[in-house]
Amino acid sequence: MDLADKVLSLAKRRGFAFASSEIYGGAGSTWDFGPLGVELKNNVKRAWWRAMVQVRDDIVGLDAAILMHPRVWEASGHVENFTDPLVDCKNCKHRFRIDDLPDGERLIDAWRAGSVDVSSIECPSCGLKQLTVPRNFNLMFKTHVGPVEESASIAWLRPETAQGIYVDFENVQQSARRRIPFGIAQIGKAFRNEITPGNFLYRSLEFEQMEMQYFVRPEDAAARFEEWKAERLRWYVALGIPEAKLRFREHAPNELAHYAKAAVDIEFDFPFGWKELEGVHNRGDWDLRRHTEYSGKDLSYFDDLTKEKFIPNVVETSGGADRATYVFLLAAYDEDLAPVADAAGKSAKEERRAVLRLHPALAPYKVAVLPLSKSEKLTPLAREVWAAVRPRFMSVYDETQAIGRRYRRQDEIGTPFCVTVDFDSLEDKAVTIRERDSMAQVRVPIAELADRLRERLPGC
Ligand code: GAP
Repeated sequence: MDLADKVLSLAKRRGFAFASSEIYGGAGSTWDFGPLGVELKNNVKRAWWRAMVQVRDDIVGLDAAILMHPRVWEASGHVENFTDPLVDCKNCKHRFRIDDLPDGERLIDAWRAGSVDVSSIECPSCGLKQLTVPRNFNLMFKTHVGPVEESASIAWLRPETAQGIYVDFENVQQSARRRIPFGIAQIGKAFRNEITPGNFLYRSLEFEQMEMQYFVRPEDAAARFEEWKAERLRWYVALGIPEAKLRFREHAPNELAHYAKAAVDIEFDFPFGWKELEGVHNRGDWDLRRHTEYSGKDLSYFDDLTKEKFIPNVVETSGGADRATYVFLLAAYDEDLAPVADAAGKSAKEERRAVLRLHPALAPYKVAVLPLSKSEKLTPLAREVWAAVRPRFMSVYDETQAIGRRYRRQDEIGTPFCVTVDFDSLEDKAVTIRERDSMAQVRVPIAELADRLRERLPGC
């Protein structure tokens, strides 16, 4: 099994993520986060919010509605431009994005230059050269508001959270009394009718974005763009992604999105190649200018110190919560040899273990409380210990099977610390803290346990 298969199998087996509507055969490229997955993804979002909003004095939060006025998507350019070029095979009826055909990158370049020819290309499915001329396919999901399905009632499921930030720019700026430069951050669902979804959480139809729009003076945009590139890369590294697995990729002028003046992808070294993890974009004044034009509401900013009026430029950081969750899982997955403890808790031999070396801030459980064995004598004290830990840390209690098996179970889901209650604990009122990565053990008095854990789990 390669890394992607191992992580997929672990995710399903241990309850990180399941295919949506699995009992009906799956809804296709939509995922449900199970008990561990919801903790992990919430921790990713929490860490992002902490870094982008809580510890800064220049960014505020927003939670805008998913359904917006349909004109928003005309103004944003998504109705016209948010498309993928597709071909159909006349023989086998399969449909492909042209960048998924052999030599796809050249085809995309040719498509953008307006001179693509697919007549000599074999269908990847049936092998015949019967592909149609490429045509654009809009990636937004369309629905209708109200009982009548007519053009006046069209609504789109938002394909990015950013537009909610633009249309609320003035409301937020004035209510929060912000001066430029300042940012607005948002986490929320987005939807894209992707033609080639796949690779587990990498590309799905429904996902969450973590986006921040930083509003600046036009002359500051280029410098702020560089700052945000570095800042966003730092965030991933600080949460445990090795630097060697991340890189920047600048967009060439002919691949820039319709709104972007400059764009860089932070790419991750996925098992299926280097791919985008997050985008940092210099969007110029595109969005606020377009919403001013389409809504009739002047979204320019008046600087009361310099008495200048201008349309702010935007530097955007745009990451996916699901894609980041997947990346943290991939980067954390490891296998090594661990001593196997016998019934008395002494190590006898070694066995292979799977371990998620997740940053403690991201780990679903921070602490597992484990009595050495399931025994009437140990259970009351072990439960007492758990009751003391539980209000402070996301934690779990496990007393079934041998202690070695239970350590393995916690290692595999990334729990940084196990607290073991043994028969000596009944006498000396102390427990053992075992650390996940080094497997080092230290004995601490129960009375000091909460403090000792707090020292080891700062900010958790
Ligand atoms: N507002 C700009 C924007 O939406 P994007 O590069 O299209 O830019 C930003 O998307 C991020 O959203 C991506 O880097 C990725 O992390 C996430 N994302 C985009 N499409 C996705 C999908 N189909 N499934 C999961 N995540 C996706």
